[in-house]
Amino acid sequence: MQSTQALLRQVGITSGQKVLDIGFRDLPELQELASLIGHAGHILGIDIDARHVQAASKMLSNLSISSISVKEGSALAIPAGDYSFDLILCKGVLHEIRRPEKAIAEMARVCKPDGAILIIDIQRFSRIKFELYRAQALFKGQHSGDFHPGFSRERLLRMLSQQRLVEVDYRQLPDKWHLGFNEVNLFLLKVERLANSQPAGDNIAIPSR
Ligand SMILES: C[S@@+](CC[C@H](N)C(=O)[O-])C[C@H]1O[C@@H](n2cnc3c(N)ncnc32)[C@H](O)[C@@H]1O
Repeated sequence: MQSTQALLRQVGITSGQKVLDIGFRDLPELQELASLIGHAGHILGIDIDARHVQAASKMLSNLSISSISVKEGSALAIPAGDYSFDLILCKGVLHEIRRPEKAIAEMARVCKPDGAILIIDIQRFSRIKFELYRAQALFKGQHSGDFHPGFSRERLLRMLSQQRLVEVDYRQLPDKWHLGFNEVNLFLLKVERLANSQPAGDNIAIPSR
């Protein structure tokens, strides 16, 4: 894939930001982000898979990089307070989440009022091809971990509007992903909060002012 760094520069990541990377998987992804936000910024990487978190944590302790920290945690219950981040990145993860609406509600909860959310994932493709791919994986004794055959822009917009979020950038990326025999297109979606709105997610404490 075109480097995350180049893409993030294009969509406005700046130094000093507080960034959340959901489903980071590998430390190099976090290091790429860290080089963009500089020493004044901070990145929290979360992943539901404890093995990824342990591996990254071990590497971090040898590298002594203070601008990156990692935590085990789910996109469905992000281990952070409301309005914590300037930028939230969710790359290649949403299609692995059974309830993407809930993940978006959580992103809305932890995003600062003037922050942004970047979702990079696969565009909607054929359900039949997707089920075939999952069946092939099962036949080989693997679990694909994928729940959705990508997302149409319309579905994304519906999920956003439930959280009073708006699309500020949507583009198809030049790179493709391979899911079994399927070559799938990728999108980048940049989202911000609708002016003067608060997140509408479950159980969110809305500040009184
Ligand atoms: C396909 S990898 C993407 C890794 C990386 N972001 C990238 O773009 O290369 C998906 C990652 O999301 C993690 N993941 C899946 N479901 C998750 C969830 N509900 N919450 C947090 N992480 C999740 C997986 O453990 C895995 O590390």
